[in-house]
Amino acid sequence: MTSTSPTRGTLLILNGPNLNLLGTREPGIYGSATLQDIEDQAKAVAGEAGFDVRCVQSNSEGALIDAVHAARENAVGIVINAGAYTHTSVALRDALAAVRLPAVEVHISNVHQREEFRHHSYLSAVVDTVIVGAGVLGYELAITYLARTLPA
Ligand code: DQA
Repeated sequence: MTSTSPTRGTLLILNGPNLNLLGTREPGIYGSATLQDIEDQAKAVAGEAGFDVRCVQSNSEGALIDAVHAARENAVGIVINAGAYTHTSVALRDALAAVRLPAVEVHISNVHQREEFRHHSYLSAVVDTVIVGAGVLGYELAITYLARTLPA
């Protein structure tokens, strides 16, 4: 029997608070792409590399942590834009450290050119790679990184 489904496993594409508002949220900083656009593109790029995607967005810290925990069972890698929780959440950092899956932290904007409080990330030390300031292309770059580094 032939199958057309991807075979390399699932990538969790995890977006945190306020990222559901992309497209209308501060377009001068975040651009005009919507979260749906990002997720559609992620699906296409991951699919070309043989991965499925699971897209989760939540404004709640606990729901993001639950999604990271679930990834232990149902994903082979994580792309995470934790939004403002990046700069505040020890709990999300601990979740990423606990699951020990390959993970890439993405920020649409260049957080280092912005307010001081955005310069520190609790997550960066427990992920493999950080991509900042590449706009929504960052998600594509993150998926490409995982596709190149995960087992074929
Ligand atoms: C962000 C940067 C964060 O500082 C901010 O709180 C966000 C979005 C980004 O993608 O540039 O919500 O993660």
